[in-house]
Amino acid sequence: MTLRFIPVASPLMQYQTHRPAIDDAIRRVLHSGRYILGEEVACFEREFAEYLGTRHCVAVANGTEALCLALKACGIRAGDEVVTVSHTAVATVAAIELIGAVPVFVDIDPVSRCMDHTLIERVLSPRTRAILPVHIYGQPAAMEEICAIARRHGLRIVEDCAQACGARIGDRKAGTFGHAAAFSFYPTKNLGAIGDGGAVATNDPEVSEQVRVLREYGWKERYISSEQGMNSRLDEIQAAILQVKLPFLDAENARRREISERFSSALDRELVIPPRPMPGTGHVMHLYVVESLERDALQAFLNERGIGTALHYPRAVHQQGAYMERIRGSENLPVTERLYDTLLSLPLYPELQDDEVERIRTALADWCSSR
Ligand SMILES: Cc1ncc(COP(=O)(O)O)c(C=O)c1O
Repeated sequence: MTLRFIPVASPLMQYQTHRPAIDDAIRRVLHSGRYILGEEVACFEREFAEYLGTRHCVAVANGTEALCLALKACGIRAGDEVVTVSHTAVATVAAIELIGAVPVFVDIDPVSRCMDHTLIERVLSPRTRAILPVHIYGQPAAMEEICAIARRHGLRIVEDCAQACGARIGDRKAGTFGHAAAFSFYPTKNLGAIGDGGAVATNDPEVSEQVRVLREYGWKERYISSEQGMNSRLDEIQAAILQVKLPFLDAENARRREISERFSSALDRELVIPPRPMPGTGHVMHLYVVESLERDALQAFLNERGIGTALHYPRAVHQQGAYMERIRGSENLPVTERLYDTLLSLPLYPELQDDEVERIRTALADWCSSR
């Protein structure tokens, strides 16, 4: 009997789980005749702000533009320096440069794999205007410490929450600590659309209003641009789909955590280091990323067992052609660089069936005992 291949991600299964409600939502929009920035978007914005506990949410076209718009609305201008990490999706750094600002890298903490806040003050310069921490893989960065540094130096904070929808520090959600936060609803994200989508969340009414203006050509009044804006609108179909999925997000995140604990229990930590959620935080396991000095052998073994894997990411941002040798801080990222030889993402999504979870768990245990 050949075993079904377990893909590393499966947005199709997400759709199938919520299919009747999603189909109804799409039909509702089709028949409404309003396809862009209508009641569905407004309703999703209200519900998502309420879910997060922020005063405002503005839905936009994708997570990259959410970052661009959040930075701009926070007053970051061309030439301003933004402190961030190289261990992230390239979108984080691309967004900073898209608005003409200048990324500066700091290294990560080896356990949380998020920004090492103890290194931030070493890279500050008179041009530093913002800090952009990334809640990587679903693990919130050390926001209380980062906020204290930002306050001391008068810096703005934009949180990259693309991978951390629903994550918490204490009882506060990731995305409620900085001046603004950017979310992505890319289909494989914990809250995924069926296409592109994103949002900016903030407690600051001016930031919210500015994102609203900038996402549609700088209009305060229709057809009259009071400033230079762009088109970064979320469409009604995506907003309707996101409304269907949002009520299930916490339960789905809990299922992700439960599966991750089962995987981690199979590992010999001398051979394979599992994600180590930071105490006091609610990790949402967007990705289950292990570290192993024998990463390639582990990947080949899992592939033979019909278990998909991926690298998030094959290279750190500062190791990619477009960014190599030109971003300040790149020369001092030993923890980031070490991580990239070892990391491996395993399948983790709420739709994984118990027998699939068991297959992955057994494969991990077998690999550890074979070494
Ligand atoms: C950490 C991080 N930031 C930003 C983004 C950009 O989001 P999007 O793909 O919706 O533009 C992503 C998603 O790919 C991400 O993982």
